[in-house]
Formats: sequence, C-alpha cells, structure tokens
Amino acid sequence: MKSTIHNDVFLKTLNHQSTPYTPVWMMRQAGRYLPEYRESRKNAGSFLELCKNTEFATEVTMQPLDRYPLLDAAILFSDILTVPDAMGLGLHFVDGEGPKFHKPLLDEKSVQKLDVPDVENDLAYVFDAVKSIKKSLDGRVPLIGFAGSPWTLATYMIEGQGGTGFLNIKKMLYTRPDLIHHILKITAESVSLYLAKQIEAGVDVVMIFDSWGGVLTHEEYETHSLNYMKVIIANLNLMGFENIPKIIFSKGGGQWIDKQAKSGADALGIDWQTNLGEARKIVNDKIVLQGNLDPAILLSTPKAIKEAVRKVLDSYGHGEGHIFNLGHGITQFTPPENVECMLEEIRNYSKKFHAGN
Ligand code: CP3
Repeated sequence: MKSTIHNDVFLKTLNHQSTPYTPVWMMRQAGRYLPEYRESRKNAGSFLELCKNTEFATEVTMQPLDRYPLLDAAILFSDILTVPDAMGLGLHFVDGEGPKFHKPLLDEKSVQKLDVPDVENDLAYVFDAVKSIKKSLDGRVPLIGFAGSPWTLATYMIEGQGGTGFLNIKKMLYTRPDLIHHILKITAESVSLYLAKQIEAGVDVVMIFDSWGGVLTHEEYETHSLNYMKVIIANLNLMGFENIPKIIFSKGGGQWIDKQAKSGADALGIDWQTNLGEARKIVNDKIVLQGNLDPAILLSTPKAIKEAVRKVLDSYGHGEGHIFNLGHGITQFTPPENVECMLEEIRNYSKKFHAGN
C-alpha cells in the first residue's frame, strides 16, 4: 500500500499539476561537500560500505534533507555501478581515481559470458536500503530510485574505469557492433529488473543516468543510448509500473531533446550547456524538464548564485513542468551554505511563475 507523501510538490510537477513553487533536488545531494557525509564515510571505512550497509545508506540519504528543509525529494544513496558489480566485474574504488573494475570486458570471451545477474539476491542490499529510507522519511518527501543507462554502464564495463576517452568502447563499437549490442541488451534487461525491484521496495520515481550518451555521434546516440533507455521504460510499463514517473538524463544530450521527448519518459534532465527555454519550446510542455544550474556556480558568491538561479527560472518562464536541479552532480568543493542560499532563492523567486501566486 502506498503511504501518503506530505510534500508532494515534486510528484505534482511530474504529473503536470499546479504547484505553489518550483520543486528542487540536487544530483549527488548526499556527498563529500557535506561534513556529516565525510564523517559517515570515515565511520563506514569506504564509499562502497556506505552503499552496502542499510544503516549507513539510510543515514547519508537523510543528511541533505535534515540540513536543508527546502529540498523536495530524496534520492537513494547508491551508485550506478552496483549492476555491473552484481554481474561479477568486481567494482572497487581507488582513492582520488574513482571507480574501477577488476574484470572489465576486454575480449569476445568475457562479453559472451556476461549474463543478467540474480538481481533479487545480489542487489538485495539496495532494496533493503530503499525500505529503510522510506521508513526514515516517513512520507516527508518522495524517494527517487535510479540506475545507469546501458550505454553509460557499458563505458565503465569495457573501459574498466572512467577518464579513458572512450577509446576501447568506441573501437569495439566500430569493429564489433554485435558485441556492443549484446552488452547493451543484457544490461537493459538487468536495469529493468533492478528498477522494478526498487519500485517494489518503495521508490516513488525512477531516474536513468546517461552520463556518457553525449560522447556518441548523432546517429549512434539513438541506436546505442536512447533506444536502450526506451527498452527499460517499455519494460517497466509492461511490468505494471506505468504510473511511476520516469526521468532520463543524457549529459551532453541537448541536441537530441526532440527524440528524448518521444522516449516514453515523463521528464528529461537538462544539462547546463543547454538553453532551458529553448528546450521547453521543443517539448512544447508535453514533458517535464529538470535542471539546469551549472554546479560550478555554487563555488561563487551568494549574489552570483542568486542571479544564476533567477536566470534558470526566467529561462523556463511561467507555468508548471519545471523541476529545479543542477546541470550535473554537485561538486565536493561546494560550501554547504551556498546550497542554502540557492534553495532559498529558488523558493522565493519561483512563486511568481506559478498560478495562484
Ligand atoms: O545523487 C545522489 O545523491 C545519489 C547518489 C549517487 C552517487 N552516484 C553517489 C556517489 C548517484 C545518483 C550516483 C550516480 C553515478 N555514479 C553516476 C551518474 C551520474 C553522474 O555523476 O554522471 C556515475 C557516472 C557514477 C559512477 C561514479 N561513482 C563515479 C564516476 C564516481 C567517482 C566520481 C566522484 O565524484 O568521486 C563515483 C563515486 C560516488 N558515487 C561518490 C558518491 C557520493 C563519491 C564517493 C566518495 O565518497 O568518495
């Protein structure tokens, strides 16, 4: 049974209903910029332990909400790379270097061996975290669940790490497209099951992070990134989750908004390079937009932050259908008080864009 959500402004926006102000949450809202997060991470011993331990995952998910009452949504504390980890690739984090896999997909043999994991058991720690977070939230705000897009997951699975310039995956794409499609197909199936289980455990909304869709060529974006996100959306609908709002976010994907709008998603993440007002014109209010403040602005002054917040809200303009967010994750160097300043400005300045205000 669905429990009541006290602050449902985020859900109302996703459902094209009118709200008194523009809702907001931040990508990576629980993270290293918060001293309380750094403390929890120290106590847990590692980032992965934070994700895998129910109490720690709940504690860090709640931290930004406890600090900032103006946030309108919580996001599950986890990582997109839990799925390839469950597939047996051996995820680990090297300090200062980000995620790495012990067994990346380097050759045809390793690709052929890849299979859909036992999602229910191998990722049980994620669903346990969802249940515990929902209890802790007690209906305060909705909870967002998430996964990586098949293309973005494949980049890490083939490169074995980030920051390699995508040369291995692109070489495979141009020499053995069959192998890439095999990986994307298995991954899309895995992510569909993973998100379905998150929904069953209690998440109210799901988001697919396509952090690297933007490195593809015009044609390949559709065939290798967008189409597999569409498969996931269609699978979730077939499994009976039509009413769970679905958000997709292709970073660097601003030139394909028309195509994204026809994906079946309820909302599109917009990065900071894209003009939000132009994006709205393209989607013609048929789909909700989420974004798009440059996260680096939060390193500046209250005056510059307030101006930048107003520019984003002005750019979207009057009416419903906008969820305020950053154009990508908050950086670890953000002073926490700058977030407060951003949130207050969004709440105050956005009221005039909504009916009844
Ligand atoms: O938004 C949230 O608050 C929820 C938590 C969340 C994390 N990762 C926690 C995290 C979410 C939604 C993600 C998604 C994620 N993970 C993406 C997609 C979004 C994006 O940023 O493009 C990607 C590509 C990853 C893979 C990943 N995880 C990378 C590249 C890194 C290292 C980069 C970095 O910022 O250090 C991580 C680690 C990670 N995931 C951290 C957090 C809080 C930092 C870990 C730490 O404490 O050291």
